[in-house]
Amino acid sequence: MNFNLSEEQLMIQQAARDFAQAELLPGVIERDEHSKFPTEQVKQMAELGFLGMMVDPKYGGSGLDSVSYVVAMEEIAKIDASAAVVMSVNNSLVCAGLEKYCNEEQKMKYLVPLAKGEVIGAFCLSEPEAGSDATSQKTTAIDKGDYYLLNGTKNWITNGGTASTYIVIAQTDVEKGHKGINAFIVEKGWEGFSIGPKEKKMGIRGSDTHSLMFSDVKVPKENRIGADGFGFNFAMAVLNGGRIGIASQALGIAQGAYELALKYAQERVAFKKPIIQHQAIAFKLADMATQITAARMLCYKAASEKDAGQDISHSGAMAKLFASETAMNTTIEAVQIHGGNGYVSEYHVERMMRDAKITQIYEGTSEIQRIVISRGLVK
Ligand code: CAA
Repeated sequence: MNFNLSEEQLMIQQAARDFAQAELLPGVIERDEHSKFPTEQVKQMAELGFLGMMVDPKYGGSGLDSVSYVVAMEEIAKIDASAAVVMSVNNSLVCAGLEKYCNEEQKMKYLVPLAKGEVIGAFCLSEPEAGSDATSQKTTAIDKGDYYLLNGTKNWITNGGTASTYIVIAQTDVEKGHKGINAFIVEKGWEGFSIGPKEKKMGIRGSDTHSLMFSDVKVPKENRIGADGFGFNFAMAVLNGGRIGIASQALGIAQGAYELALKYAQERVAFKKPIIQHQAIAFKLADMATQITAARMLCYKAASEKDAGQDISHSGAMAKLFASETAMNTTIEAVQIHGGNGYVSEYHVERMMRDAKITQIYEGTSEIQRIVISRGLVK
């Protein structure tokens, strides 16, 4: 078993680290304060090939492995978790789903610009009453011959305002339960498709999250993904990979907070010595470092299994569960180590603590991850 990154993976890590330091760090506090989307930085991420990292180059992607993606995500999230979620959704939920399950025509039309980062994508599953209980879709798409008539509302959609291409999950036949659900590619600007106001969030305030409303939107038949009734299985399969992306985002947030706390603990003097020399602080840092290393290993394991074509439902859920809890614990302790300074924005850790919380909620709450993991324990 080899725990070392390859030369190529190390190069990607360095490129992502340099980019995050030079381009994301300078405005990250201001973007958080004003809930400002990192428009310029996302364009730069596209130029670096970070928005279609695992997509085959023939469809405009970078053709890299999933471990490279985890490594890059960690570096981006370490500095700016908002930029990281834009990257995660575009790569894991949108591009990966289109590449694996769409036909050639759909890929050429929609995947190529998304993988190049010329446009951004969004994944629209959650509804007011169907966040965790994803089979209870109220959005309907009624078959009208050569098109579907789409009606309903989607909530908490990441990239909701900035996206141009939306994957929308809808019920086409209520009688059939989850077998009566389909996934569709919907374009911004189609008649009847409107976008609600930007949500005011606790964290990841640089990313844009919206409700989406569909009122008699005509979706051409050729925009359905896969065979009739495949939508729920499509969503579950895509989310398995998406959970590796969010686990990596959580890992990056934890690592960022840990590095700041470690530095601060060596500089800050109390009771005549740097606070790291007090065991109460040193033990916190020891726990952080241990948990982060374990979270990183779970992320690499899930990513390696994905590249090997294995079922990643359990390893992805484990990585997300553990990494998101690590992000929460680590950021809380990083604020504590910073004391009063931890509570003000210029020291970054209070933002990281707010950002960490969402990693325990989106792409399946921690409770959902435990459902997925526990179901897999009994063979
Ligand atoms: N991987 C692959 N297939 C899966 C699966 C998984 N993890 N979980 C379920 N399935 C399949 C089952 O095999 C079954 O398929 P078949 O009928 O073909 O055998 C089908 O899905 C139905 O399965 P269940 O009966 O187990 O379904 P359920 O109603 O009990 O729900 C659940 C299962 C795991 C709770 C699921 O509803 C779930 O994952 N919920 C959370 C959804 C979620 O993550 N939402 C986040 C929204 S996206 C987001 O946050 C994006 C963003 O903006 C960042």
